[in-house]
Formats: sequence, structure tokens, C-alpha cells
Amino acid sequence: QPDESRTKPKVVDIHTHMYPPEYISILSSRTEIPLVRTFPSPSSPDPDPRLILLEAELPALEKALQDPSAPIPGRPLTKHFTSLPQKMHFMSTHGIDISVLSLANPWLDFLPASEAGAIAERINASFEEMCSSSSSKEQKLYFFATLPLTSPTETILSCIAHLSSSGSLPHCRGVILGTSGLGSGLDDPALLPIFHALAAHNLPVFLHPHYGLPSAVYGPRAGEEYGHVLPLALGFPMETTIALVRMYLAGVFDAVPGLRMILAHSGGTLPFLAGRIESCVLHDERLVKEGKTAARRRSVWEVLRSQVYLDAVVYSEVGLKAAVDASGGGREGAERLMFGTDHPFFPPVGEEGDRDGEWESVRLNVEAVKRALGEQSEEAELVMGGNAMRVLRLFD
Ligand code: URA
Ligand code: ZN
Repeated sequence: QPDESRTKPKVVDIHTHMYPPEYISILSSRTEIPLVRTFPSPSSPDPDPRLILLEAELPALEKALQDPSAPIPGRPLTKHFTSLPQKMHFMSTHGIDISVLSLANPWLDFLPASEAGAIAERINASFEEMCSSSSSKEQKLYFFATLPLTSPTETILSCIAHLSSSGSLPHCRGVILGTSGLGSGLDDPALLPIFHALAAHNLPVFLHPHYGLPSAVYGPRAGEEYGHVLPLALGFPMETTIALVRMYLAGVFDAVPGLRMILAHSGGTLPFLAGRIESCVLHDERLVKEGKTAARRRSVWEVLRSQVYLDAVVYSEVGLKAAVDASGGGREGAERLMFGTDHPFFPPVGEEGDRDGEWESVRLNVEAVKRALGEQSEEAELVMGGNAMRVLRLFD
């Protein structure tokens, strides 16, 4: 007999992207990556434009520009990237009650300093509009805002002040950040005022990769023979891992104890490598000599349990269990993970792939939570939505 008095626990997707129209028009006007471009072909007279984002896609782009018979580069820019009704349809199909939208990579990283501030304002306003116009009793939307990181620090700080949820963007619940920071990474001391401001405004940082690793590590066969597998499966998670460890080594978490980070893809490889990182710190002569390994030092493990949350976009029970264990284990660890889909990336592909139906990539992540934490367990319910509701204050 189902317990009718118990309301159905909410499912929240905290890792779900959109490109609003103004962003697509910026990409469409560009001749360097990131860009949007249509490649006409005799076999399909009205093809989807292609979205070309990653450095690893450059060789394929160059080939396609020279030779119309070469394979088309990038990925199709379907309505899944831009359409709000499509997002709501995706949510319904997968039983998602609340989505926390974010602009997808590479955000505003490539904009000239003089333009970034105004464009960030427009894009954040556009996300606010999407959230307020589409939220209904059944489905709600919030968003992580984007920052104009190429503009002067005052512009970035005034953008942050503008984001606080009591202000003009009431659906904003944090910011999405890549790993480049102001140009030299997230361990740059010049970022500290920005981290302080985010902490003061109670805005968590959703840290997301884009740049991967230098293409040379994938070898000469990667683009043509291995598709996107190496940069997405390995480059992305390593990038996130390195960015967070640089912040840790620079003492950012001690300097800004109120800073909270939500790491994409379950922290990249951090749950698996945290022990090795710790050991390398403890055995580093230079760090020991400089007193950086003193007893009061907080370990990577402690930072993971206090200032870091991980999304649950890891596609397997093995990775999910590691993420829970690295976050403190048991109930404590399960309270630090949050379900996500990475929509509109990883759609069903091929002739059979029905993008309007159920997505295999989502199913894998849902299954991983169930298998790792037990179907209908309280821990699984927390990961599927309860944690996001609490941490991101997704109340009515
Ligand atoms: N590929 C991207 O470029 N971004 C994502 O978020 C996922 C896949
Ligand atoms: Zn993503």
C-alpha cells in the first residue's frame, strides 16, 4: 500500500545547459572556435547548423572548410540547445521536476573585455526570463549565472552584486565557471576578491570543464578515428581535477572558507586521486620546508567534505560510490552529491536515436544512483533532488 501522505520526492537536474538566442548569434558571427556554421551538402539541403566548440575539433573543421566531401565537424545544433519548450519536454520525459540551467561552455571566455560585461548582463537576464516565464506548478527552473571574466574586476564584482537572489535575478542560485579564471587559472590571487564576493552573496560555483588537455596527448589518430571520446571522457575530467587541486594548493579554500564549489562530472578524477594528491603534498620537500604541510593544514579530504559538492554525472555505480566515499561516505557523503544530466549533450545518436524520447545517458546516471545507494533509499532521494533543494534553496 503506497503511503499517500508522503509527497513524491523531487528530482532536480543541476547540470543542464542552454544557449540563449543572443549567444547563438554571437557564435554564428565568428570565424574562429567556438563557432556555429552551416555546412551545406547535396544529401541534406537543410541541415542543422554545426556547433564547433573544442580545440580537438579544429583539424576536422579545417578539413571540412577545404573539402566539402569531408565529414562535417562538431555536433548538430539542434533545438535541444536553444529551445525552452524542448527543455521542458526533456524534463517531463525523464521525470525531472526542477532544473538549474546554465550557459554551456565556453561561456563568455572568448569575448573582448569591452563587451563581456554588457553581454553577461543580457545573457543572465535572458536566463532569468526563461526561469520566470516557464516555471509552473509542476516544473520549476532556476539558473547558474555567467560572469564576464575577461572584463575588469570591478565589472565582474558588480555583476556578482547584481546576481544575489533577492535582487533583480530572483532565480539565480550560483554561477557557472570554467577553469581559465582571469586568464591564468583559478589559483590566481587576483580571483580572491571574486571568490570572496561569491561566498558573501551565498552563490556556489558550478565548476565545469571546457579546455581539456593539449590535443597532442590524444595522439594523431584521435580526431579522425576516436571522435570526441578522448577529450570528453578524459580531457574534461582531468581539467576539472587539475583546476580544483590548483585552488587547493594555492590555499583558496582556507582564504575563502565560505566558498562552495559544485564540481562537474563528480569531480573529474578527484574521488579516485585524492589519496595520491594528499601523499604527493606530504612527500614534497619544498612544501614541507615551507611549512605548507603543518598539522593544522586541511587535507584534500577535509576540503571535499566541507566546501565541495559533486554532481552525479559519472554514468556508473563504481564512479558514484567513489564520489560518495570521497565526500565523507555513508549518509554524510550522499548529502554532497547532486543529480544532473548534461542535457543537451550526449543525446541518443544514429538513425535510430530518438532525441525526443528517453535518453540513454540520463538512464545511466539514474541507474548509477539507484545501484550505488539503493532504489528508493533516502540517500538516493537526496542525490536525486533533496540535496539540490537544500544547498541551492530551491523552495517555492
Ligand atoms: N561537451 C561539451 O562541450 N560540454 C558539455 O557540457 C558536455 C559535452
Ligand atoms: Zn556540462
